[in-house]
Amino acid sequence: MAAFTHHIFVCCNQRSPDHSRGCCDPDGSAQLRSALKAAIASRGLKPAVRANSAGCLDQCEHGPVVAIYPQGTFYGGVTLEDVPRIVEETIVGGRVLEDLVIADECLNNRQCEHITGDQTRDAASEPT
Ligand code: FES
Ligand SMILES: [Zn+2]
Repeated sequence: MAAFTHHIFVCCNQRSPDHSRGCCDPDGSAQLRSALKAAIASRGLKPAVRANSAGCLDQCEHGPVVAIYPQGTFYGGVTLEDVPRIVEETIVGGRVLEDLVIADECLNNRQCEHITGDQTRDAASEPT
């Protein structure tokens, strides 16, 4: 059996609407994960590529978040419309989509402008 080439972790974390950090899957539908899973299957990439549901990846303010390993690529603001090019460009083509990638100054930085800017989020709160 060939080794895995990509594990795609799709944040499916759901929180209450009033949570200070928001969440990646407000309606709990896991649509993004389902769409990626279907696209991987239809592109014939199984079983070397997998799309897994993930809990909070701690990049909530930049969600919906998709992390691709072992490449370590973090995408933010991902929509269903992005799924085909994530599969074609990133998974098949090996190219990072610059418009989706979470910037270095944002990744794991609770002080980034999206958190401390004019939003009233509690940057010190821990993910649940
Ligand atoms: S809820 Fe998705 S990264 Fe935290
Ligand atoms: Zn940011």
